[in-house]
Amino acid sequence: MSITLLFSVLLCAAPLRPALGAPAVDVSSRVESLLGKMTLEEKFGQLQQLDGDAGGDARPEHFELAKKGLLGSTLNVRGAKRVNELQRAAVEHSRLGIPILFAFDVIHGYRTVFPVPLAEAASWDASAVERAAAVAAAEAYAAGVRWTFAPMVDVARDPRWGRIVEGSGEDPFLGAVMARARVRGFQGPRLGDPGRVAACAKHWAAYGAAVAGRDYNTVDVSERTLREVYFPPFRASAEEGVASFMSAFNALNGIPASADRWILTDVLRGEWGFDGLVVSDYTSVQELIAHGFARDGAEAARLALSAGVDMEMVSRLYNEHGPGLMESGGLSQQALDEAVRRVLRLKFRLGLFERPYADEQAEAGVLLSTEHAAAARDMAVRSMVLLKNDGSLLPLGDDRRTIAVVGPLADDRAAPMGSWTGDGRVEDVVTILEGIRARAGARRVLHAQGCGVSDPAAGGIDEAVAAARQADVVIAVVGEDAAMSGEAASRSTLDLPGRQLDLLKALHATGKPLAVVLLNGRPLILNWLDENVPALLEAWFPGGQAGTAVADVLFGDANPGGRLPVTFPRALGQVPIYYAHKNTGRPPSENKYSSKYLDVPVTPLYPFGYGLSYTRFRLAELRLSARSIRPDGRLRVSVDVENTGPRPGDEVVQLYIRDATASAVRPVRELRGWERLSLAPGERRRVEFELTPEHLGALDGALRFGVEPGEFQVFVGSSSVGGLESSFEVVAY
Ligand code: GLC
Repeated sequence: MSITLLFSVLLCAAPLRPALGAPAVDVSSRVESLLGKMTLEEKFGQLQQLDGDAGGDARPEHFELAKKGLLGSTLNVRGAKRVNELQRAAVEHSRLGIPILFAFDVIHGYRTVFPVPLAEAASWDASAVERAAAVAAAEAYAAGVRWTFAPMVDVARDPRWGRIVEGSGEDPFLGAVMARARVRGFQGPRLGDPGRVAACAKHWAAYGAAVAGRDYNTVDVSERTLREVYFPPFRASAEEGVASFMSAFNALNGIPASADRWILTDVLRGEWGFDGLVVSDYTSVQELIAHGFARDGAEAARLALSAGVDMEMVSRLYNEHGPGLMESGGLSQQALDEAVRRVLRLKFRLGLFERPYADEQAEAGVLLSTEHAAAARDMAVRSMVLLKNDGSLLPLGDDRRTIAVVGPLADDRAAPMGSWTGDGRVEDVVTILEGIRARAGARRVLHAQGCGVSDPAAGGIDEAVAAARQADVVIAVVGEDAAMSGEAASRSTLDLPGRQLDLLKALHATGKPLAVVLLNGRPLILNWLDENVPALLEAWFPGGQAGTAVADVLFGDANPGGRLPVTFPRALGQVPIYYAHKNTGRPPSENKYSSKYLDVPVTPLYPFGYGLSYTRFRLAELRLSARSIRPDGRLRVSVDVENTGPRPGDEVVQLYIRDATASAVRPVRELRGWERLSLAPGERRRVEFELTPEHLGALDGALRFGVEPGEFQVFVGSSSVGGLESSFEVVAY
């Protein structure tokens, strides 16, 4: 019997676990002692982060500023040797020797590139996600990086937004669990331990709710939606001891997030007790002017620093206008000193004063190790989602059939790495074609590109069709290229770009058995594929071990067990579409006058939590430990899971609740727990969950509304649709 204690990710009452590191009293006294020695110029210098070039070099100016003690932090500067060169300028040549904090976007791997975060979330395996972050931290640390701008914990429900790839999808509960896992992986048990880095929860707040999915666009959401949907992964990160937050680009309900005192100070520090550092996003302080919120640079600096942004990334308004603002009284000494304290506190907690330098001898042995490659391969396999499989083609097995591998992404080196590739190199990537060839052994493997990813030309389709005609089975690898995903990569459609669908239709017309592998960073519209293709595997952007992992799954060496962390719509017109929707007063029905469309069903093509397997599972015997509980009570939910199919496989058993009647209407389902378990053929296991008040209250609302008496429904299934149902009452005695 396994009890799955639901992650109390939504604990809203628990005190924050301060980012650990050196003993607090030691750090605090050292911070005060150093602060007392600093000049005004040196204080503002600590609030400045500047960027190195994309390749990792520092800029000449950085050395000048470092020697004067006026460079608090850099981003992008990396590599043990280069970091040490710049660090020596600060530590050995500046008046106070305050070390520089080296930061970098280590989002899903440093040199060993893991699957993109959306893919990792599709594994529904928090321990694998934690391990991936730990590997990334070890490699980043070896390269002199001490601070990563991750995890990105923005809930995203509009797949037009390119940055949906960077987070954990549409659900606050799944997102909160993954946020915790990544913070733990990056920071380890003690902030400052060798091989670990400071993490950064971003982008605070609600960046994923950009209107129309257009990056950097306005966000307007109610406080209730903020607290119930967008805040929980951030709160979970803070509870997990994340060392820093990054303020977002977007305006939130009219106030730019990088100058919004309510989120930066009242909620983050006042309500949640966060004592870490807040860094702006890239020039987001300066962008207060473009927002129409600050008249000029001086006002932007004053507004941002006073609201609670401690460190300014890349723009230099704090340094340009700070001393003048102090002079004029626009900025208080208290506000300045508090920001500097937070920077120094992080540097002390990280042990930078004791260990400011990277070990140049150790670096090469850590990057791209075989263990790290194995972890990336395993993560990629665990993240893949089998969307369709009629059993006629997959798994390929080991017969002699000739395989044609076609499509623009079959041999593409860049796409598998996705966006935010850290220090990954395309030459390290195993392409899908290479992985299939390596696994196919003596079997003939043909290849033809067929068409480009997005170019309108379709000259190669005939060549791909010819290859298909010579083969027994066809594997088509299509989707998006890496540039279509990530920051500043919003798309106005969710269709397969270019002529890829024409390629698939031409291949389908040959009558050859066709399996499609998708490389993409967002939900796509896949109606034709769902209707016509016997096998469809969502591989996302699977990282450096893409080809090996895809081959593992295609040949059946691994049984796919991933589940969707985000809904796949039937039409763009359904967006935003997500499982945790409200019921409305006229839920969809045969009645014309109910909430639906004239031209498409209201259901998605593939729902949140969905994924198939090469085997089959059956759930039975749903049991509740009680039929009624007090508002402060706990309830156990258990179910039998059986592998009724021919091969071992993983099932992800998901637990959802619905507060059927509440003082503010609640979604028709809300994820409150899951377990991914491996079962042999015929094996049956009982899975247990525990529902606590934190899971029954309205997420962050549990702080205020508690658990309301009334009926709660319980659903346990293999996705957010269907499953076994039961109910219980919360009774206020
Ligand atoms: C970018 C992104 C942010 C990233 C930062 C530094 O614009 O918004 O996620 O960490 O700048 O690269």
